[in-house]
Amino acid sequence: MTRIYFHEVVTRDGFQMEPEFVATDAKVALIDALSDCGYAKIEVTSFTSAKAIPMLRDAEEVMGRIRRAPGVQYAVLVPNLRGAERALESRADELNLVMSASESHNLANLRMSRVQSVAALTEVIRVVDTRAAVNVSISTAFGCPMEGDVAQHTVLILAQRYADLGVRGVTVCDTTGMAHPAQVRVMCDALQRHLPSALELTLHFHNTRGMGLANVLAALQSGIVRFDGSLGGLGGCPYAPGASGNIASEDAIHMLQAMKHDTGVNLARLLDVAHRLPAIIGHDVPSQVSKAGPIGQLHAAPCQPA
Ligand code: COA
Ligand code: ZN
Repeated sequence: MTRIYFHEVVTRDGFQMEPEFVATDAKVALIDALSDCGYAKIEVTSFTSAKAIPMLRDAEEVMGRIRRAPGVQYAVLVPNLRGAERALESRADELNLVMSASESHNLANLRMSRVQSVAALTEVIRVVDTRAAVNVSISTAFGCPMEGDVAQHTVLILAQRYADLGVRGVTVCDTTGMAHPAQVRVMCDALQRHLPSALELTLHFHNTRGMGLANVLAALQSGIVRFDGSLGGLGGCPYAPGASGNIASEDAIHMLQAMKHDTGVNLARLLDVAHRLPAIIGHDVPSQVSKAGPIGQLHAAPCQPA
């Protein structure tokens, strides 16, 4: 049995992609409910430009109003120094800095070249110092919807650079669901071979092409124990053409628990929260276990004809 550290990103990756603004009250109530489910980390929101990500324009208010449960790390996504200052002000436990492995997505998403992003994030890491933990997310690590293949060594060089700067962790993101399990295995083996063992590696998969849970399994078999997921399977980057939802947290946690791994998450409680999600966002969600129920939930036999 492996201890898995599961990170919930629905109120960041999920809500940034929603067509309608989710009310601040609903966001706070949802995060408070998720705080009681047993997650290691919740990525609450992002401190980005309100013009770039209007759905998360209430980031300060959300961070100010949520209840902080002991044992849960409250993280926020940060693209630049301005975002880092806002995040520190909001007392985030972890700043999740973001840049892309591909130049086209970095330019579309952050309006900077990769070189500019590395310089900006290096300065953020220096300024944050010991005031909060720092994680760096590398987007489009398994392929870019505008450029196609992304070389594995590009991801390794970026991850190594941030490891050298002393960050706590690096998240390797499949932003538009282009990764397949064989590729994930090779990438995860290489990351663990080349990077310091103290660096916390997280894998972030989207289910755009139905390979999300297979990719979780491939990463797990390589030795990865940290995963991001989004309740209901919501999510996607508005600046990545063709993006769609993350792996659904409840589906991934259900699979991991069925395999007898310890996720720390109370699945029954999580499914209760998942059932409330469609009403919050006003539409159905792609996750499956929230509809089918866990494998232990049995049904009455159908009536036999007399
Ligand atoms: N928080 C709030 N406002 C910010 C900000 C931040 N972190 N960074 C910049 N701004 C504001 C500036 O003050 C400026 O405001 P003004 O127009 O009222 O003067 C405006 O945004 C533009 O600033 P500029 O530095 O020119 O940024 P930009 O327009 O080149 O955008 C980013 C750069 C990084 C701020 C923007 O692209 C962004 O927020 N991207 C995030 C994308 C994202 O989260 N994608 C999904 C997750 S992968
Ligand atoms: Zn994502």
